[in-house]
Amino acid sequence: MLLNYLCILSVFLHVLTVHSQCRQGCKCSSKVTICVFTQISGVPNNLPTAITALTISGSVSSPNSFGHLSPSAFSSSRMSHLIMRYCGIDAIDAGAFRTLPELKRLNLEFNKIQTLTQQSFQGLTKLTALDLTENRKCDIKPNTFDGLSTLLELRLGEMDLKTFDLNLLQSLHSLATLDLHGNRLKTLDWAVLSSLTNLKHIDLSGNQLTTIPSNMSSLFTQIVTKRGSIHLGNNPWKCNWEIKWLKNMSVSFSSVFSIGNIICDSPANLQYISSISVPDPKLKPILPKILNCDKTKITVNEGMAVFINCTIKGDSITVKWINPTGTSFASSPLQQTGHNVYLNGSLYISSTSSSDLGNWTLSVSSKLGEDQRTVDVNVILSTTTTTTTTKTTTTTTLTPTTITTTPTPTPTITPIKTKTIPTTSSKIVTTKTTPNVTTPTLATNAVMVQDVSTDFTFKWNSAPQNIGSVGYLFLVVCAAIACQLFM
Ligand SMILES: *[C@@H]1O[C@H](CO)[C@@H](O)[C@H](O)[C@H]1NC(C)=O
Ligand SMILES: *[C@@H]1O[C@H](CO)[C@@H](O)[C@H](O)[C@H]1NC(C)=O
Ligand SMILES: *[C@@H]1O[C@H](CO)[C@@H](O)[C@H](O)[C@H]1NC(C)=O
Ligand SMILES: *[C@@H]1O[C@H](CO)[C@@H](O)[C@H](O)[C@H]1NC(C)=O
Ligand SMILES: *[C@@H]1O[C@H](CO)[C@@H](O)[C@H](O)[C@H]1NC(C)=O
Ligand SMILES: *[C@@H]1O[C@H](CO)[C@@H](O)[C@H](O)[C@H]1NC(C)=O
Repeated sequence: MLLNYLCILSVFLHVLTVHSQCRQGCKCSSKVTICVFTQISGVPNNLPTAITALTISGSVSSPNSFGHLSPSAFSSSRMSHLIMRYCGIDAIDAGAFRTLPELKRLNLEFNKIQTLTQQSFQGLTKLTALDLTENRKCDIKPNTFDGLSTLLELRLGEMDLKTFDLNLLQSLHSLATLDLHGNRLKTLDWAVLSSLTNLKHIDLSGNQLTTIPSNMSSLFTQIVTKRGSIHLGNNPWKCNWEIKWLKNMSVSFSSVFSIGNIICDSPANLQYISSISVPDPKLKPILPKILNCDKTKITVNEGMAVFINCTIKGDSITVKWINPTGTSFASSPLQQTGHNVYLNGSLYISSTSSSDLGNWTLSVSSKLGEDQRTVDVNVILSTTTTTTTTKTTTTTTLTPTTITTTPTPTPTITPIKTKTIPTTSSKIVTTKTTPNVTTPTLATNAVMVQDVSTDFTFKWNSAPQNIGSVGYLFLVVCAAIACQLFM
């Protein structure tokens, strides 16, 4: 402990003594050259050739506005750490990091990178950690990470990802940490995920996941064995029998699963309850069942709308309505057929016609079984239609057309909005994003990185300044103690 302090102190004193020979903004010693910048207008020029670490960090309230990183924006045969936060980077040109062969850690959090391709990280053959957290709505093209076979840690949190193709990770054989927190993932390709045999830490918190298939227990057992970590909080977990294995595991290995991790969102009677408090009998399978339909028989005039309001239950169910002639209508997000089937089992026919006349069947099924209910829809065909129909018996070929073109009165029931998924549990875990009032970066955005080489000025916030006067005093006292000890 004491040795540690002494070491830090000696580095500090050393830095102070050699500071004068080093570029402003940098600290140089024989082993390391570290440069730290805050508000600057572009990649700094004249960096020491021996630079080992570079940090450029704007802030939430005043981010930098670098725009795109041009090819070989940096050049150093020794740089191992490159951190650029809040730098307003919106694009990485092909080969931008090609001249940093020793780079191990690349941190690009809180930027605005719009697209990543296979060329973005070209040449980074020693990279072990890549952090892209909070580059929102970034389009990650296939093969983007293909060249990064040494990568151990990949952070893709808070990127508004709705889907994530895990095949992107197929070259990352050593990957130990995968962070996908705070995205909008409803599901993942679990089979691909379980092929990551070196995974030790996974963060899927703050997504829209409802369940994890039980065959993922092999991956989770692997993580548990390595004493890694599994973060699953803030997802709308559906607490049913499918999740029982996960509950069991999180009870047995609570140090790996963060406590209170899996909070139920559904069914309603278990909402907000931690799965570990739910007794096993309550996690029994819910068979598909039609509880009620508000009508068993309905009579309407042709052209009128019909709404059959049903209540159903069941785990992982498929809902369909079958019309009298045997055609199925499934629930779909695009409700534009005029025959809308809702996930909750209800049916809406916007304008009834002769083909709707007869018994409709609601079928609710899952791999556990099926339930059915029949509703008799009696459509009173308007007289004009009947006469047209009889007439068309002579002019045969026109039959279908004449029937469909019969004028339809406006439906009495207004169209129903499609069900929206509640987003209450998609709370974000880490710090908030930059405010919507982005700084007037537009003018500087246009400045390209290489154009900055002429006269750029930057504000050098030296480390001592950041420590503050109390820190200074502390360091002086430490120095005094250290000297005492040496005497
Ligand atoms: C897990 O089960 C699902 C079906 O439930 C299947 O698609 C997937 O391939 C299985 N994954 C593994 C790793 O066995
Ligand atoms: C929970 O897991 C343990 C072993 O991991 C097993 O012995 C036990 O039967 C499981 N309990 C339930 C309820 O699945
Ligand atoms: C459907 O039924 C539920 C309860 O059974 C009710 O709350 C809802 O308002 C009904 N919807 C319509 C459109 O009638
Ligand atoms: C089923 O969903 C429809 C459309 O969102 C809605 O109008 C109806 O009230 C729902 N029925 C029940 C029983 O919740
Ligand atoms: C509908 O089904 C009922 C019995 O469930 C039957 O009596 C009736 O005739 C059927 N209607 C039609 C149009 O087939
Ligand atoms: C920023 O958001 C606030 C409310 O969240 C809104 O009143 C304001 O108009 C927004 N400003 C801009 C520039 O969009």
